Amino acid sequence: MKKIIASLTVALVSTCAMAEVNFQVIPLPQSVVLDASGKTTLMIKGQAVSYPADNARMKRNAEFAEEFLGLKPQAELATKGRKKAKDTTPVRLTLGLTSDNPDAYQITVDKKGVLIQGASESGVFYGIQTLRKSIAQEQGDTIALPWAVIKDEPRFQYRGTMLDCARHFFPAEYIKTFIDILALHGVNKMHWHLTDDQGWRFEVKSLPDLAKKGSYRPHTILGSNVGLHDPDNVLYDDTPEEGFYTQEQLREIVAYAAERYITIIPEIDLPGHMVAALSVYPELGCTGGPYFVRPYWGIDPDVLCAGNPKTLEFIKTVLGEICDVFPSKYIHIGGDESPRKRWETCPKCQAKMKELGLQKEAQLQTYINKEVEKFLATKGRELIGWDETLEGGLSENATVMSWRGFKGGIEAARLHHRVIMTPTSHCYIDYYQLKDHRAQPHAIGGYLPLSKVYSLEPVPEELTPEEAKYILGAQCNLWTEYVLSPDHVEYMLLPRLAAMCEVQWRPAGEKSFEEFTGRLSDMEKMYRRLGYKYCTSYE
Ligand code: ACM
Ligand code: ZN
Repeated sequence: MKKIIASLTVALVSTCAMAEVNFQVIPLPQSVVLDASGKTTLMIKGQAVSYPADNARMKRNAEFAEEFLGLKPQAELATKGRKKAKDTTPVRLTLGLTSDNPDAYQITVDKKGVLIQGASESGVFYGIQTLRKSIAQEQGDTIALPWAVIKDEPRFQYRGTMLDCARHFFPAEYIKTFIDILALHGVNKMHWHLTDDQGWRFEVKSLPDLAKKGSYRPHTILGSNVGLHDPDNVLYDDTPEEGFYTQEQLREIVAYAAERYITIIPEIDLPGHMVAALSVYPELGCTGGPYFVRPYWGIDPDVLCAGNPKTLEFIKTVLGEICDVFPSKYIHIGGDESPRKRWETCPKCQAKMKELGLQKEAQLQTYINKEVEKFLATKGRELIGWDETLEGGLSENATVMSWRGFKGGIEAARLHHRVIMTPTSHCYIDYYQLKDHRAQPHAIGGYLPLSKVYSLEPVPEELTPEEAKYILGAQCNLWTEYVLSPDHVEYMLLPRLAAMCEVQWRPAGEKSFEEFTGRLSDMEKMYRRLGYKYCTSYE
């Protein structure tokens, strides 16, 4: 025991060369109370960090403390029926914080050392991230921490980020780095757009050709889609785009994310954005094809045939395997930008409408969604769809992702459906982030500066307090038509994700962009230290 106490070196080292630790990180904790009467100087490298024995997640948290801070994990002494020995380890991770919010944490720094206490294991993880960010500016192995009590909890239970890996493929190994970046920003949902007209990236074992063939396009349109309707003016690169994730890789990524308290919500976009699948199974389209994996962007008129019974069979096969790989309660089934033009003239679709007594083609999409919802329910899952799913009537338990502004989200909340806010105006980080386009890589268009992301209020004023409860949270979306590499992903993401992080964490009405930017430079130092690319100026 003496040895353990002795390993906490208190106030022996001069601290004048070190910057003050003040816990003013991103997200800014709700409460930071400093006690000017003392400081604890920690020999951080190699210092012990204790965790409750027999709790694998807390052990893993202690390993994160090792990875981020250089601490040495050490299981707390087991009680084994005797009175529990007092834990005098200099850094302690514990559970038992009283809070309704499982992500809540408290950090206490006093003469005994540092205690990170969580309402659950995820709270402890967020506490470790805050400590990591607080002392990241310090160089060397010795940290002078002021005595303090820091308390925080996120405002929203759903704190998402979407990545599109269909338009451009990013390797499995990089997805782990992406997840590390999300974890650094307190995100707990990664919405993964895995399929689209331009590529199918999810291995379906019972349909092996789907990913093998549907994940390949020989070239991609250069520049924007200008000239698409004038074939003589379309220029393509000569670089094939290919790749898909095997189920083995996906399981590994799911586990990697889960250790970091991130749930991956996979998206299979249907019934539109399906041409890559139609290129492999043309009988699932209204015209029968032939189809090819699209080397250009935009909304394609070719969609799954709603009147062909094979379509639902196909969807259930794919989603069945999705559920095998992804344990997420929510499964995203897209539903956006699905033109009904083919359905209007397709004999099978028209016969289906007649059979079901439907008045509008939009109701065919609701019919598919209801069937999918029933299927997902057999697996204990629920569906999320983009706000177009409101058009023909929502299926019973659908959650709506409001992207075409706030309107769809308001409508859904009033119908008592859960909502995730991701309006293009504040959340589409595929848009330019600076006014001067020449200072940035080619982007899809638009203008979404850091300040605009920061200004997002996900709960519209129009909602009553009761309706507001249906807003689960917010997320930013990174579509990748024009995002070509991992470096480019990070450039689009950072620092806008830092702004979204405060939208997701800070209490309503307690944000100041000016004050936030004062804290951003420390976060940028962190990005540099971790080797992340980011946009170095902001507006
Ligand atoms: C979308 O941006 N099409 C959801
Ligand atoms: Zn049809």
